[in-house]
Amino acid sequence: LTQERYPVKRLPFSTPSEADLAAFERIIPGRVVTDTEVLAASNVDWLRTVRGCSRVLLRPRTSEEVAHILRYCHERNLAVNPQGGNTGMVGGSVPVFDEIILSTALMNQVISFHSVSGTLVCQAGCILEELSQYVEARGFVMPLDLGAKGSCHIGGNVATNAGGLRFLRYGSLHGTVLGLEVVLADGTVLNCLSALRKDNTGYDLKQLFIGSEGTLGVITAVSIQCPPKPRAVNVAFLESPFYVLIETSGSRAEHDAEKLNDFLEQALRSGLVTDGTVATDQMKLKALWALRERISEALSWDGYVYKYDLSLPTDTLYDLVTDLRARLGSQAKHVVGYGHLGDGNLHLNVTSEAFSRSLLDALEPYVYEWTAGHRGSVSAEHGLGFKKKDALHYSKPPAALRLMQQLKALLDPKGILNPYKTLPAQA
Ligand code: FAD
Ligand code: MLT
Ligand code: ZN
Repeated sequence: LTQERYPVKRLPFSTPSEADLAAFERIIPGRVVTDTEVLAASNVDWLRTVRGCSRVLLRPRTSEEVAHILRYCHERNLAVNPQGGNTGMVGGSVPVFDEIILSTALMNQVISFHSVSGTLVCQAGCILEELSQYVEARGFVMPLDLGAKGSCHIGGNVATNAGGLRFLRYGSLHGTVLGLEVVLADGTVLNCLSALRKDNTGYDLKQLFIGSEGTLGVITAVSIQCPPKPRAVNVAFLESPFYVLIETSGSRAEHDAEKLNDFLEQALRSGLVTDGTVATDQMKLKALWALRERISEALSWDGYVYKYDLSLPTDTLYDLVTDLRARLGSQAKHVVGYGHLGDGNLHLNVTSEAFSRSLLDALEPYVYEWTAGHRGSVSAEHGLGFKKKDALHYSKPPAALRLMQQLKALLDPKGILNPYKTLPAQA
């Protein structure tokens, strides 16, 4: 599947042997998985577009175990694919060949929560939705939310620098993550798990790992700032000709409702909005959000999905959708545009019955060139992973690419961490 669609050659890593499996068994007894069913699920991505052939999945519980595993793999020149909830959109979460899958599924403990400041420190394998429930019960919310919340891990969110549905309100993980614990490729544990809001002691190393997609280190724990849980939440769902979902959150229900109503009256009077509905109760609120959160799932029922995640100036956000509808004609089943309007983030999705090389050729590099021509970014929030790594140059100058390659070589000299991902193959 993978090699047919995306030509790539296996790099000269060692092949995991029986002796390697025995060594892993000594490090994490009973948690070395070779079961073919489990491996089949972990070898393929959520979109079912990239599939590896790994024969071993490791389930450490502690950062010391991760360190021990990586020290061993580094020594033996074994390639490793860090995996969280495997909900990533760019093929970064699954092996390309036989890389060892290092899963954070059992690293799911909350380490501490400060009930006054809202600082949460937890292991990387905590599921986002479970963390949300944990902090909400204590009067706080997670600063990020996404449709994949029931499966994705906080470590995976940080590794992809996920944006999501609260980005406009609470900002990027580059701001809300206070500290990280990361295990480097050679097994060194980098403990930068600070809970401080302010810390200017030298380079802010944690930022390097936010969005590094498992290529620079394995994130084992996260310290994150949770904002207070809003006391009043309103959701408005408006139409004409686009559907727009707006959530407001504040501390006084009447005051918030008054402001929202003023805005809606104005929008209706100006003709910008023709119809809509507002929700304040949990049930309706969730039902409205589900319409938005489940778009990607709905699209996956439409056939093969070509997915693009672009940052564009808001006033040209939808132009590429109409342009592509004309360009592709009946070649595509649907050309769909949705996303995060307030963030200038378009999710451009094109569907067809099955994968088609000619459709891919009609889309790429056209979509990337169009985006670069509008000074946009070829990845707004999903990352580059395996599928978008060769598009990096559309959004970054050669000097930036070179520096990225140098950082990779410094932190992972043997290139064992998530090879074939994020950075284009070196000439
Ligand atoms: P995985 O998919 O397992 O991994 C993703 C990448 O991170 C891989 O490169 C992997 O190697 C690396 N990685 C994982 N864990 C670690 C770790 N501990 N240390 C180092 N590297 C690691 N994204 C958005 O930005 N916004 C959205 O609104 C959004 N909505 C989504 C909705 C749905 C229904 C789905 C399926 C996906 C959505 N995504 C969204 C994609 C998003 O990237 C992921 O959902 C999420 O951030 C990935 O977390 P994960 O635990 O599943 O990571
Ligand atoms: C979303 O916003 O729904 C996600 O990023 C997933 C997707 O792009 O399909
Ligand atoms: Zn999104």
